[in-house]
Amino acid sequence: MQEQKILGIDVGASGIKGAVVDIDSGELLNERIRLETPDPATPGAMAETFAELVRQHDWKGLVGCGFPSIIKNGVAYSAANISEDWIGRNVVEIFSLACGCPVEVLNDADAAGLAEMQFGLGQGEMGTVLLITIGSGLGSALFVDGQLVPNTELGHIFLRNQKRVAEQYASNNARKREDLSWEEWGIRFNEYLQSIERVLNPDLILLGGGTSKRFDKYEGYLDLRTPVKPAELLNAAGTIGAATYAYQQSRKH
Ligand code: BGC
Repeated sequence: MQEQKILGIDVGASGIKGAVVDIDSGELLNERIRLETPDPATPGAMAETFAELVRQHDWKGLVGCGFPSIIKNGVAYSAANISEDWIGRNVVEIFSLACGCPVEVLNDADAAGLAEMQFGLGQGEMGTVLLITIGSGLGSALFVDGQLVPNTELGHIFLRNQKRVAEQYASNNARKREDLSWEEWGIRFNEYLQSIERVLNPDLILLGGGTSKRFDKYEGYLDLRTPVKPAELLNAAGTIGAATYAYQQSRKH
C-alpha cells in the first residue's frame, strides 16, 4: 500500500528534525520536533537519536531521511560535518534497524531541492535550477528540466585564491566561526556563487537552509547574472523532501 503520510527526517550536522508530511500538499502535519545531533556524530549515537525521533512521533510506517553525505544505494560516501566512521556505512540499514521502520535515504540538500521543486519556488521551472543550502556546510541540489542530478557536492569546490573548499569559507559555520559581518560574509558568498555561475550557467539559483531566512542581510552583496531567490519552504524543505523521496521510492517497489 502506498502511504500518503510519511515521516520525514532531516538529519543535519547540528540538529535532527522530523515531522509527518502530507505527500499531496507537502504540508507538515505536526510541529517539527528537533533533537540535537550527537557530538561526535557517530553511526551508533546518531542512530539512537534517529530512533528517538521516530518514537516521539509514535510512528510505525515508512520514514524518509535526508542525510548530509553523498548517498548511493543507501551507503554514505563522504562525511564532511559528521563522524568519518560513516564513510562506507549503509545508512538505510543502520537507521531502519534502529527504529524498526523501513527507511529511504538521500542527500539532505537533494531532499530540500526535491521539496522546493515540487511545492516551492521551483514548481514548473525548466532549464537548470540550482539550490544551495547554507548551514553548517554548503549543500547543493541540481535539477535539469525538473529532474534531480543527485549527489552534486558544489559546497566542496575549491575557490580561486583560497586554499580551502567553499564550505570552509562561505558556509554559515564559517560566518559564525570567523565572526564575519553580513557584509564580509555576503562578499564571500557572492564569490562562491560567481564561481559556480561561471561553470554551470544555471537559469535560477535558490537558497535554502537556515541562512536563507536572512536573505535581506546579504542580498545586496550578490552580483550575478542568474536570478537568485531565497527558497520558499525555508527550514522545512529538508523534512518535506525526505518524505517526498520515500514516497517516490515506495511507488517504484
Ligand atoms: C556535505 C553535503 C551536504 C551539505 C549540507 C556538506 O558538507 O558534504 O553532502 O549536503 O554539507 O548538509
